[in-house]
Amino acid sequence: MTDPIAFLDLPKQQARLKDAIERRVKTVFEHCRFVMGPEVEELERRLAEFGGAKYAIGVSSGTDALLMVLMGEEVGPGDAVFLPAFTYTATAEVVLLLGATPVFVDVEPDTFQISMSSLADRLAAIRAAGELEPRAVIGVDLFGQPAPWDELKTFAAQEELTLIADCAQSFGASYHGRRLGHEARATTLSFFPSKPLGGYGDGGAILTDDAELAALYRSLRTHGEGKTRYEVERIGINGRLDTIQAAVLIAKLEAFEDELKRRDIIAREYDAAMPAGIQAPVRVADSESAWAIYTVLLPDAAARDSLQAHLKEAGVPTAIYYPKPLHHQPAYSEHHDGVSLPVSESLGARVLALPIHPELTGDEVSRITDALKSWAGENA
Ligand SMILES: Cc1ncc(COP(=O)(O)O)c(C=O)c1O
Repeated sequence: MTDPIAFLDLPKQQARLKDAIERRVKTVFEHCRFVMGPEVEELERRLAEFGGAKYAIGVSSGTDALLMVLMGEEVGPGDAVFLPAFTYTATAEVVLLLGATPVFVDVEPDTFQISMSSLADRLAAIRAAGELEPRAVIGVDLFGQPAPWDELKTFAAQEELTLIADCAQSFGASYHGRRLGHEARATTLSFFPSKPLGGYGDGGAILTDDAELAALYRSLRTHGEGKTRYEVERIGINGRLDTIQAAVLIAKLEAFEDELKRRDIIAREYDAAMPAGIQAPVRVADSESAWAIYTVLLPDAAARDSLQAHLKEAGVPTAIYYPKPLHHQPAYSEHHDGVSLPVSESLGARVLALPIHPELTGDEVSRITDALKSWAGENA
């Protein structure tokens, strides 16, 4: 039996980047400015440059980034925030933490990105019911591909909604030849270790082109501080990025372009080898994915479960993002109006994510594609 393949290989990543990371972290141990040390500002400069945004604000996680952006908009009770039902829980939980109501929107059956027609329907229904004030829409770049930003921008402007970009899975992706990072009023990033740009712990950032908003987010991440440390201008949180995480991320950012290229090569190899009966990810037009996740689609739950078992047998780990849409989760169902979102409801049983990370070797990719083909051969 050959060695099992890793879904995410942090030990190998460590071995590859160890020297650069240790050098950066050692500097932090020398100056001991563990909170808001100089590495935080350096990382912010580099992130803004990489994402093509004017300002970057390092924060404690992708979830806190979303929370602070909504706090900055003063979203609260009585407000409706529209977001896809097929996403990670963090996109929705921040809305409820502020007492506002998440309005779940269906997604497209091929790209899994938010459906503009469902969004229009959901907004019309909320307006007709007259109980909530539509305030914002959060676009999510699911699995690393861009949400339909052109359409979202036009729609948000027409409907007077604030547009927020949850780029937790897509930092490094591009759309119309430009890196994602400035499609919305504010863009949030996550540096959770499994993300394309992952730290060694929790971390996140907010990108914006607006100087006033940047100042507001800096205040919110430090307990709402004003011009001096003990002037409390507003209610904030402890939402800072640790200096050690910033040091790790600076070192990792240096290798990021090459890692993105490697992820893309693997995705293309999977695409090229994909047998009939398994649908490779459908690409969003004029874009490049960051390949946080490479998700294939099967015709039904039986086929998906059978492929997952077959791959496991061959030492290939897989994951299911996401088994259940948010509006069917116990924590959210009571906040949902009961409307059916059929695409989001069907995907959970049919999706399967294959390993995609820069440490995968050519041999491992071949083992994975061979296993896909042998399953397809047996199930033709
Ligand atoms: C779409 C999406 N939004 C938000 C988050 C939250 O990021 P974090 O885990 O850094 O809080 C995640 C990450 O897991 C995510 O995938």
